Amino acid sequence: MQIVRSIDELRVALGASHKPSFVPTMGNLHDGHLRLVREAQSRGDKTVASIFVNRLQFLPHEDFDSYPRTFEADCTKLEANGCDVVFAPRETDLYPQPQTVKVHADPALGDILEGQFRPGFFTGVSTVVMKLFMSVFAGKVQGVAVFGKKDYQQLMVIRQMVRQFALPIEIVGVDTCRAEDGLALSSRNGYLSESERTEAVQLSMALRALGRDALAAANALSTHLHALEAKAMEGLRQRGWQPDYLTVRRREDLQAPQAGDALVVLGAARLGNTRLIDNFEI
Ligand code: PAF
Repeated sequence: MQIVRSIDELRVALGASHKPSFVPTMGNLHDGHLRLVREAQSRGDKTVASIFVNRLQFLPHEDFDSYPRTFEADCTKLEANGCDVVFAPRETDLYPQPQTVKVHADPALGDILEGQFRPGFFTGVSTVVMKLFMSVFAGKVQGVAVFGKKDYQQLMVIRQMVRQFALPIEIVGVDTCRAEDGLALSSRNGYLSESERTEAVQLSMALRALGRDALAAANALSTHLHALEAKAMEGLRQRGWQPDYLTVRRREDLQAPQAGDALVVLGAARLGNTRLIDNFEI
């Protein structure tokens, strides 16, 4: 496995590849990431993973500085899972000058849910993913990029970006990897204390219950939905959480659903100092 830092080195490493398959990450890899790497490996002729904690997608008060950086362990895991090239740019490699040209997600998708509670988040994500895509795929006729469905809205934003810019990249979404108790795997789970870790599964349980209630109310969905969402959020509040949103949306565009729409239930909530997100297609 090759480890490269600069975009030029990456392009040399991928010189002979006709169809790279790519997993962008911020490192601190867990089984969920490794599942993405194995998926990527089955879809291209060279598997690339990037490790880059992207300052642009963090708000000033968020955890950019404390975000876990575990480069050596990450490389060991990537190698064991069939990765060919690790692209680990320094900040000056990816952003040699301040990145003033940015990619903005469609506000209808990017300014709701995560975008509402983390303003600018999807601009930061779209900008770095576009830059990573250009680094990995420039000059290639086709490519594949693999993302986890845990970041459901992120996956939709990236799909839309790829469609609208006509990038020759297939975007593959992979199901969320969960711990035995049902907690979605996330690098931020490492911030949880022992008691918080036991409690953390309640977010996925609340979302599942909200999903069941929403399906039961399917015929009068819009009438009951706000009440069901409020009840789910209050349930978590009673347990000491600070929920940002627990909501049922239509899968197609994450807007409020009408009867008959395919649905997804999404949530974000803070437990102590840790903000967790999760979702289920129902
Ligand atoms: O999902 C993540 O880890 C990040 O948002 C991504 C896609 C690597 C961009 O920094």
